[in-house]
Amino acid sequence: MIPRTPPRHFLDLSDQPASVLRQLLDDAVIRKRGARYSDRLRGRTLALLFEKPSTRTRVSFEVAMRQLGGDVIVLSGLELQRTRGESIADTARVLSRYVDAIMLRTADPAELFGLAAHASVPVINGLTAHSHPCQVLADVMTFEEARGPIAGQTIAWTGDGNNVAASWIEAAAQFGFTLRLATPPAYRPRSQVVDWARKRGAMIHMTDDPIEAVQGARAVVTDTFVSMSDDPATDKTHLLGPYQVNAALMAHAAPDAIFLHCLPAHRGEEVSADVIDGLQSLVFDEAENRLHLQKSLLAWVLG
Ligand code: CP
Ligand code: NVA
Repeated sequence: MIPRTPPRHFLDLSDQPASVLRQLLDDAVIRKRGARYSDRLRGRTLALLFEKPSTRTRVSFEVAMRQLGGDVIVLSGLELQRTRGESIADTARVLSRYVDAIMLRTADPAELFGLAAHASVPVINGLTAHSHPCQVLADVMTFEEARGPIAGQTIAWTGDGNNVAASWIEAAAQFGFTLRLATPPAYRPRSQVVDWARKRGAMIHMTDDPIEAVQGARAVVTDTFVSMSDDPATDKTHLLGPYQVNAALMAHAAPDAIFLHCLPAHRGEEVSADVIDGLQSLVFDEAENRLHLQKSLLAWVLG
């Protein structure tokens, strides 16, 4: 029997060699500059499964697949028999007979890993409560587009130590930049991801002081105070309020610092309107880059 090649899943930035991540970024830059459409994925179908809402991830993956000549099926919320108790293993085996790749957005990382363990086609992480790797690759692309190589630079995160922060921590290890994170002690990033990055030699500094984190940084990054997978009964905003990115905080960053936010944003909460709508903000380039990056990713997983 010919052994089957395992599918190329894209589950977390920590899973891939840094060289693959660099190749994805370089490819996305070429795609952004070059021809928008190709036939590369003609005859291939991508399933997009959303257990949580999405604007950017949904539209960028769908448009990316179509621009590469492929087809897309979008399934959300209650549409799958999974909601009536069908196992993730059976769901993975069945979908693998119909489609060529699956993207999943779910709160529970175990769902994603279960899907990947039983699928015979590539599985892509479209966000879990623990990480958002596609987003942070696009963020690194956006930084490099504006300010050159990210290696050796200092990036600051202020706010909740959430899924996006976790992928930034993994990115710091993979791309060789210093990451300073300011969070309230109650909302620090998960220790497993910090330990993983530090063991790889990453420079991860954690503080509860946003000014300390932002001092001289080339990019200031934040995200919503309340994530989709958070318990709606818990009010996090009173502890997170002092971590807002506003003009006074940006004044401590490097004079040419950029502001990044994966969106959706809440003006007046995690970021002031003058910063997100101001000259230092690259949030819409960041959103656009999701599309170019998604194309590189799809071409790679379906390679
Ligand atoms: N940044 C991001 O993933 O946005 P969506 O939730 O709209 O997909
Ligand atoms: N941290 C946010 C990111 C949204 C793209 C969330 O999980 O809701």
